[in-house]
Amino acid sequence: MRADRPYDLVLFGATGFTGGLTAEYLARHAPDRLRWALAGRNPDKLAAVRERLAAIDPALADLPLLTADVTDTASLRAVAESARVVATTVGPYVHHGEPLVAACAAAGTDYLDITGEPEFVDRMYVRHHAEAVRTGARLVHACGFDSIPHDLGVWYTVRQLPADGPIAVDGYVRAGGRFSAGTYHSALTAFSRTGEMSRAARARRAMEPGPDGRRVRALPGKVGRVREFGQWAVPLPTIDPQVVRRSAAARPEYGPDFRYRHFAAMKRLPTVLVAGVGLAGVVGLVKVAPTRRWLLGRLASGQGPTAAQRAKSWFQVRFVGTGGGWRVVTEVAGGDPGYDETAKMLAESALCLAFDDLPETAGQVTPVAAMGDALLDRLVRAGITFRTLSA
Ligand SMILES: NC(=O)c1ccc[n+]([C@@H]2O[C@H](COP(=O)([O-])OP(=O)(O)OC[C@H]3O[C@@H](n4cnc5c(N)ncnc54)[C@H](OP(=O)(O)O)[C@@H]3O)[C@@H](O)[C@H]2O)c1
Repeated sequence: MRADRPYDLVLFGATGFTGGLTAEYLARHAPDRLRWALAGRNPDKLAAVRERLAAIDPALADLPLLTADVTDTASLRAVAESARVVATTVGPYVHHGEPLVAACAAAGTDYLDITGEPEFVDRMYVRHHAEAVRTGARLVHACGFDSIPHDLGVWYTVRQLPADGPIAVDGYVRAGGRFSAGTYHSALTAFSRTGEMSRAARARRAMEPGPDGRRVRALPGKVGRVREFGQWAVPLPTIDPQVVRRSAAARPEYGPDFRYRHFAAMKRLPTVLVAGVGLAGVVGLVKVAPTRRWLLGRLASGQGPTAAQRAKSWFQVRFVGTGGGWRVVTEVAGGDPGYDETAKMLAESALCLAFDDLPETAGQVTPVAAMGDALLDRLVRAGITFRTLSA
C-alpha cells in the first residue's frame, strides 16, 4: 500500500536552517529515483528553497511543495498519507513535534527527526508507540548529532566484543562548533522543563517492557582524568545514553549484561569548571519566565553558523569497550556536528528507511534498531569516520 504513495520522502521544515541544509544535501546526493517533496508552512519560503536546490540540480526546479502547518492537523495528515517516509526539522519538538508523529503513526508512515529532547521522545513513546506498532510505522527520533554517532559508535564497538558475557562501554565526546537558533531555543526549552522531563520518563518506565532476561543500563559516570586520552571526562546527561540503552535492549549483540556511560571529554580542568558553572547559570535563568523570554529573544529562527564557521567545526567521539577479557578503543569523527553532519545523518537515515533492506521493526525504534549496519555503511560512504584505534 505504501509503495503507491506519491513520494518516497517528504522533508518538513525545509525553510529552517537545518532543514535547508538537509534539502541541499539531498539535492546533491539523493539517487535520481528518489521521489521527494518539501513541506513547510510558508509557500513563498518553500519556493525560495526550491530555487536554491535548482541551482544545485536544475531537475529540481519542479520539486513538489506541500503547505503544512503543525497547527493544522488535516495538512499533516495529507503530508503523512502522501509519503513513505517523512523527515522533520521543525523544532523545538516538545512544542511543535507531536502532531506530525501522531499523523505518521496513524498513516503507517516512517518518521524521522533530529530531536535531542528526552521529554518529547518519552511522551511520543507513551502516546504513539502502540499505534505505530499497529500500523507498521517506524518512529525514529534523534537522527542527528543527537544521537547517531553515539548510537552507531557503540554498536560498532560492541560488535568487536564477544556477546556471550557482560559488556561495558564508555563514550567520550569532543566537539567544536557554533549553534543555530533552533538548537538554542530547543536547549533553553529543555532546561526550563526538568520537572516535565522527569514525569515523562516515569510515565514511559511504567509502561515500557524491559529486555527479556537481559540487563541493560545507562549509568552516570564520575568526573575524572582519562590518562589514555590525556583528557578530563565529565558525565554528560544528554539523550544519547538513553538512546544507546534502548538500542542495547532491542539487540542481542549487546550481550546479557550491558552498561554504558557517556562523558564530555575536555583537555583542561578549568574548562570543565567554567562549563559547569556556565551551564548551571543558564539552567537557573531559564527557570524564571522573564529571563527565559529575554534569552529566547536573543536569536531568531533560521539563523545559524556560516559555511566558513561550519567548515572549522568538528566532532570526535571515542569509545572504550570491554568484555570477555577483550578491550577495544574506537572512534567516530566528522565535520560540523550540529548542521552539516546532522543534515547528512538525517538525509542518509531517510534514504536508508526508504530504500535499504532492513530488519522488520515498527513503533518507536532507535537508529541502531531500525537501521544498524545499513546506516553505518551509508555514513562511512558519506565521509563520517568509524575506526578501531586499538583492539
Ligand atoms: N540533534 C541535533 O543534533 C540537532 C542539530 C540541529 C538542529 N536540531 C534541532 O532541529 C530543530 C530545528 O533547528 P533549526 O536551527 O533548523 O531551526 P529553525 O531554523 O528555527 O527552523 C525551524 C523550522 O520550523 C518551522 N516551523 C516553525 N513553526 C512551524 C509551524 N507551526 N508549522 C510548520 N513549520 C514550522 C520553521 O518554518 P518557517 O521557516 O516558516 O518559520 C522552520 O522551517 C531544533 O529543534 C534543533 O534543536 C537538532
